[in-house]
Amino acid sequence: MDFDAFRELLTPRGLRALGEAEELVGADPVVAATKLRRTYDAALTSAALTQAGLRDRARAKFGADAGLMYFTPHGLEQATRAEVAEHRARRLAAGPGLRVVDACCGIGGDLVALARAGCTVDAVDTDPLTVAVATANAEALGLADRVTVTVADAASVAPEAYDVLFADPARRTSRGRTFDPLAYSPPWPVVLELVSRSRRACLKVAPGIPYEFIPDAAEAEWVSYRGDVKEATLWTGGDEERTGRRATLLPGSHTLAATGVRAVTGPVGRYVYEPDGAAIRAHLVGEVAELVRGRLPDPMIAYISGDEPIDTPWAARYEVDEVLPFSLKRLRTALRDRQIGNVTIKKRGSAVDIERLRRDLRLSGVKSTVIILTRIMDRPSVIICNPSPPA
Ligand SMILES: C[S@@+](CC[C@H](N)C(=O)[O-])C[C@H]1O[C@@H](n2cnc3c(N)ncnc32)[C@H](O)[C@@H]1O
Repeated sequence: MDFDAFRELLTPRGLRALGEAEELVGADPVVAATKLRRTYDAALTSAALTQAGLRDRARAKFGADAGLMYFTPHGLEQATRAEVAEHRARRLAAGPGLRVVDACCGIGGDLVALARAGCTVDAVDTDPLTVAVATANAEALGLADRVTVTVADAASVAPEAYDVLFADPARRTSRGRTFDPLAYSPPWPVVLELVSRSRRACLKVAPGIPYEFIPDAAEAEWVSYRGDVKEATLWTGGDEERTGRRATLLPGSHTLAATGVRAVTGPVGRYVYEPDGAAIRAHLVGEVAELVRGRLPDPMIAYISGDEPIDTPWAARYEVDEVLPFSLKRLRTALRDRQIGNVTIKKRGSAVDIERLRRDLRLSGVKSTVIILTRIMDRPSVIICNPSPPA
């Protein structure tokens, strides 16, 4: 979609075309295009069908708002999911009226949440189409009086003039997604220079950010949504002078801060707990082990074991059936004896190829189980277990 096609989409005629295209989502693309082409030219037909398809996909991230918003394919892919952006905006804006500068706003997932939390947001992005889309989103959601969006480079913003700097640098390069902050755009050194001039800053980064890139004076928060780790947020400045590590689970806003507690090592007991990925990324396995009164069967691996069935949002619990040294033959026999035909295979600290193992097990029973491939005190092991959902 190009800039002119998007501008035309915002005209009354363009909006009619978009409305008709939305009615055709899911229809055969040739049939849909032929139908729209009876009334609209090729460029508007294509823009309307593309936008209708993007709105449909965007529902997973933006819910009902998606039907009012506008997207680009990259912009949608990079946008923060509404629940995650809302969590961050709530944390940031405890009390309305903050002036925020968003240094690389994309299609506006975060700026919308910030404006809704009561902030006034000045946003920039280097891409003119993206800026037009973010502007249209602020207007479509009734936030235009609190938001300005301008085509500019992040390096040109003046964070000194704001209460808070927000930045969510692009993590895509021509070769795909990058885990290297030095390959972010705007580049990490530019972002850190802006942070150094800001009173408070909030940076969204990849959950796999290497720890050495986390500034000493920042709190790092890993956020997962329905069990998937979505991002890390780095917070600096503010009255509370946050530091340390934290994990947050959404929905529900459960949050766990690092206390430095270390888990003891000990044998596999009646239950195995698999911590949420956000807790693992935030190095909070000791804190989760404390919550479930557990221990680590292997000090280097993030499975926890305990003897009590403790309910916690921080870990999935499994009831242990048997622990075996890893051997295909023994595992196959153990599963056959149990008439297992369907296994969920989990692994941590094991190099076994899960799909190959599944084939090699040649299961044919009628029951289901979970097997955990891991190392226990450095020995390849398998734990046969069953989900033990919260009471
Ligand atoms: C990850 S997206 C932001 C997504 C946004 N937070 C949201 O939720 O929709 C990053 C954006 O940074 C923009 N960008 C890249 N380099 C930039 C720079 N030097 N200055 C300003 N924006 C830049 C890209 O065009 C892209 O739209």
